[in-house]
Amino acid sequence: MSEATPDIKKGLVGVYADVSTISKVMPETNSLTYRGYAVQDLCEECTFEEVAYLLWNAELPTRAQLAAFNAEVAAERAISPALLRVIKDFPHDAHPMDAIRTAVSFMGMEDPESADNSEPATRRKAARLLAKIPSAIAAAHRAGKGLEPIQPDPKHTFGENFFNLVFGKVPAPEVLKAFDVSLILYAEHTFNASTYTARLVTSTMADIHGAITAGIAALKGPLHGGANEAVMHMLKEVGGPDHAEEWLSTRFDHKALVMGFGHRVYKTGDSRVPTMTKYAEKMAEVVGDKTWMNTSRVLAAKMLKEKNIHPNLDFPAGPAYYLMGFDIPLFTPIFVASRVTGWAAHVIEQAADNRLIRPLSHYTGPEQRPVPPLDRR
Ligand code: ACO
Repeated sequence: MSEATPDIKKGLVGVYADVSTISKVMPETNSLTYRGYAVQDLCEECTFEEVAYLLWNAELPTRAQLAAFNAEVAAERAISPALLRVIKDFPHDAHPMDAIRTAVSFMGMEDPESADNSEPATRRKAARLLAKIPSAIAAAHRAGKGLEPIQPDPKHTFGENFFNLVFGKVPAPEVLKAFDVSLILYAEHTFNASTYTARLVTSTMADIHGAITAGIAALKGPLHGGANEAVMHMLKEVGGPDHAEEWLSTRFDHKALVMGFGHRVYKTGDSRVPTMTKYAEKMAEVVGDKTWMNTSRVLAAKMLKEKNIHPNLDFPAGPAYYLMGFDIPLFTPIFVASRVTGWAAHVIEQAADNRLIRPLSHYTGPEQRPVPPLDRR
């Protein structure tokens, strides 16, 4: 006997799954706030470290609070010799997202408070993750190129540290600013797929390292964070602004996805795009290479005119990272280095007022039937 089909929200479209005080997306005005502050204002007024503090403590830090926070995180940057050995044994062609997912899981086993899921311990573990993730990303990246890891310098800012660990040098201030802006924009975005994954894992009372490992796994997909890498591969494939219209028409003919466009929540523009585009354009000026941004402009105009679909944050972030000199497979790991702040804020919020997340499925398989013995199948 078939049952009536319940109201199914495939992809959980339009479903409010919980309350949250961390961030707010307002699609009707294309705006996003973290703890009540507009992201574009945070980008102009704050460093990434200040925004990390804000996400975890609900208020912006004073000078003294910021100094203490920076000191706590900077002191935890080194990763263990055991983790470095494991990283060196990773397949050299492993994707850096797989490397950082595995490294975070390993950090969970090594963490001195791995068995303590209290909020104070979870906060300390979050700070250690924020500190160590760039070191693990950079060590895996360098190992893949046959290079030794670089020791972190506690005097560096978060951004300076990342560049130093990857390249062995710190770039010009305008490059650091563009990088910091990208980290702020990537830090948090309500109940997106990876954040909701981290909350779901937390709802079973599992630990923060498990939640963040799962969040990284969810972020890798090209429909989510993996899109910033896919955007850059796409821009290279297009082959310059003069080919962009024709290239896009072919995509339309094949009804193929165009990476870096569309969003589940924003339908008339992603609030983060204007700010990231401004800094990606600055990077193009600094580097003296306008090919990628000119190509992007043609693609965005045609997507809007013919499909009424707007770009998302990954669209300007991809070329911005490329112009900063990063290899394409590092783009989504950079997203991880930033988003760990938002994920950890949600882990703390979920654990503080928890209920196991467990939706229902409507069964559409065969009716109940007898099990035939093996020799009669
Ligand atoms: N290229 C071509 N068509 C698109 C795109 C795109 N990038 N995005 C949406 N559409 C089309 C859909 O095919 C659909 O058309 P249809 O109604 O004719 O079937 C229509 O626009 C509406 O889209 P939805 O399917 O409702 O979008 P949904 O909310 O399910 O998916 C998603 C959102 C996954 C982001 C989608 O837009 C997409 O795949 N984009 C490309 C990947 C990407 O850039 N991801 C990054 C997301 S942002 C972030 O993670 C920071």
